[in-house]
Parts: sequence; structure tokens; C-alpha cells
Amino acid sequence: MNPADQPTPNTENPSVHIQAVTAEQILDSRGFPTVEVGLTLDDGTTHAASAPAGASTGAFEAVELRDGGTAHSGRGVLHAVAGIIDEIQPALIDQSWSSLSDVDHAMRALDGTPNLARLGANAVVAVSIATARAFAAQSEQPLHRWIASLTGSAELMPVPHFNVLNGGAHASNDLDFQEFMIAPVGASSEAEAVQTGAEIYHALAARIRAEYGTTGLGDEGGFAPALSNPEAALDLLMAAITDAGYTPGLQDVAIAIDPAANGFYDGAGQYRLNGQTITREQLATYYTTLLANYPLRSIEDGFAEDDHEGWKLLFTQAGDHTQLVGDDLFVTDAARITDGAIQGYANAALIKPNQIGTVTDTLAAIAAARQNRMAGMVSHRSGETGDTFIADLVVGTGVGQIKSGAPARGERVAKYNRLTHIEATTSGLAYGLGTDRQGKRS
Ligand code: PGA
Ligand code: ZN
Repeated sequence: MNPADQPTPNTENPSVHIQAVTAEQILDSRGFPTVEVGLTLDDGTTHAASAPAGASTGAFEAVELRDGGTAHSGRGVLHAVAGIIDEIQPALIDQSWSSLSDVDHAMRALDGTPNLARLGANAVVAVSIATARAFAAQSEQPLHRWIASLTGSAELMPVPHFNVLNGGAHASNDLDFQEFMIAPVGASSEAEAVQTGAEIYHALAARIRAEYGTTGLGDEGGFAPALSNPEAALDLLMAAITDAGYTPGLQDVAIAIDPAANGFYDGAGQYRLNGQTITREQLATYYTTLLANYPLRSIEDGFAEDDHEGWKLLFTQAGDHTQLVGDDLFVTDAARITDGAIQGYANAALIKPNQIGTVTDTLAAIAAARQNRMAGMVSHRSGETGDTFIADLVVGTGVGQIKSGAPARGERVAKYNRLTHIEATTSGLAYGLGTDRQGKRS
């Protein structure tokens, strides 16, 4: 074993003493403002973090604070920045914190709303992530290992789900489904999975260039050609996987989709798909046809966040063999995940720290999924920064799956590169989906 893999953790439960909190408005990957923070500790070290931002956000998510007005089309975060400096900083400095959850609870109490609307989840999540980094540094462990110790999890290198074709709210084509992902389930390591994803991405680019003349991109770095229906997208993916020399299949390179059905829900159990209005029953049948025809291992937000009947329908039809992931449905909320398990809506939960607002609550959501024998998938947002926290989060909690967009564009590959770096510098980390799942098709 490499000696670098064996940190000598400071076992005296090191506390964190915050001396100053700085905050700035920066730009995210879409060119909209977001929050970056820096914590300076009394030992002189600084720990930074920044907040991502969604476009197809769920109604039950923690709320971002945006300035309104004309600057940046109303999307400025100067009030969120001021709240960090004027309110969060005085509440956190000049005392010793013995746990991240104490810091997170203090920020929640200071905010005083159920969804962090006053100080802004964009402000709070950035401070929370920077604080997690401060605790990891104080305990002299890499962030992923500190998370594993904190949560009592076995570390695991996750199967990346590369979003290579974009539609819905993330692209300007006519594709109703938002994300088409490839998952190198059969790879033997993170490095091999990343190579597989990148090679297929380039094969896909070549095909799209030949067939459509241009390779426009969606928000998550996937291509956004003028595809008009999901089957056309899936056929293109199958061909690209083969072109790159891989085998499409549930045990090899599997496919996952995020229809993000809020985006084409008409209400009252009706969906507007491929130019037609269909019922939730027809949509469920449509998914089961796709499952029969493609190596589709996972469907995320197949129904709208409040169409519980639709969720139950597909869960009954496909939940024993297909991963059905709640994103807008669960919004990384432990209580909503537990309720979803009881009701039989889904067998997996998407995990986005900024959707619930603190790292502590994110870890609670992962624990709730695990207790309910649900799988988890850690996720970026469509608006991202170079922050790589989610890579350490997925390894440290052993969740086994991550999605961070295409294997291209700096803000997306920052996470994949962090994963391969963790793998390369830590011995003994297995790669795979893990054992949490009950609804498995692979
Ligand atoms: P968002 O999309 O970040 O725009 O919400 C990601 C997703 O729906 O999974
Ligand atoms: Zn989603």
C-alpha cells in the first residue's frame, strides 16, 4: 500500500475555528452569477467552495436568493453574498465548532425559513461545503475519506453516467426528454469508465457531424442535434457505442435517461410528448417499450413531481428490474425519500446538495435512501462551477453512481478528473454500482 493512502487522522476530534468568511459573486457555466465563499481558519488555511444552479428545478427545492432587477437579467447574487458576510460570518466566527452538523444547524436557525429562502440555499450550501473541507483538512484526511468516516460508509468508485445528448430545458432542439446518458457499467475502473465515455462521446460527435452537419451543445456539454423523438436519440447512442468499439448492454455500456417530465407535463395526468398529448398510462407504456428495445438501466423523473399516480404505475410495471430515480420528486429531502419508499414511487434517489441546502441534510438524504433500500445517484446541476465536492461525496458515501454531464467542458470534467485522481492516489477502492439498490436491471 502506498503510504500516502494511509493518512494518520487526528483522532482527537479536531474542531474548526473560523476566523473569517469571504464571499464573491462569480459566473457559472451558463454565464449567470453564483456564489463563491472562502473560510479562513485560525491556523491560516483557507477553504473555498461555490454553488451550482439548476434550470429544471423542482418546486420543492431549497430556494436560491437572486437579486432581481436588471443586472444579469435579475440573476445576480449580491444579496446572497452580503448575507454571508453580514449575517453568516458573525454567526460562525470566533468560536470552535466540533461538527459540520452544528454549523449547518446554526445556518438553518439563522435563516429561519423551511427552505433557506431568506439567506438563500446558494449562500448556505457554499458555506456548508467549504466547512466540510475545513473539517476534512483539520482531521488530515482527504475529503472523501473524511466523509466516509463521518457517515460510516465503505468508499466506492462510482459508475459515471455521461450525459451526451441534451434536450428539454437544457437545449433548444425539439427533444422533450432532457438527458440521454451512457453508463460504462462493465468497466473495471473509474479510469476505464472515463476513457469509455470520452471515446463514445467522440464517436457520437463524428456521427452527428456527418448526419446533421453541426454539433451544437446543450448546457451539460452533451450534443443537441435536431432530434425529434427519444427513439432517434437512443438509436444514435447505440450506434455511437458500437462505432467506438464497445457493446451496448446492461452489463457493458448501459443507457440511462432523465426525461425530466415536469418539462412536458400538462397537468391532470396528461403529458405532451413528441407533439401529441398522452395520458400517464400511455407514458408508462411508452417507457416499458423503450425498456424492451434498449439497454436502459435507469429512468429519472419519468413523471412530473406531483403526478404520484404515474410514478406508482411505472414502479409497479418496472420497479423490480429498472432503476427509477426521483429527482424533482424527492429534491434530496430525507423525509420525501422515505415517504416515496413507503408509497412505492421510486427505487432510487438523485442527490444534489444545493437542492436541500446543506451537506448535513444531503448526508441525511443518502442515509434515508440507504435505509429504504433505495439506490442513490450523486448529481451536478446544469449550471456548474469548477467545484468538485460531489466527486468526494460520491466516493465517501459509497453511493456507486454519479452524473456530471458530458465527458467534456471544464466544469463537467473537473468532477470526472477528481474521481480518477482519487482512484489513482488511493489504493484498494473498488469500482461499481454498489449494493444499495433493489430495482436493478443489470
Ligand atoms: P438541473 O437539471 O440542474 O437543470 O435541475 C439536472 C437534472 O434534472 O437532473
Ligand atoms: Zn433530473
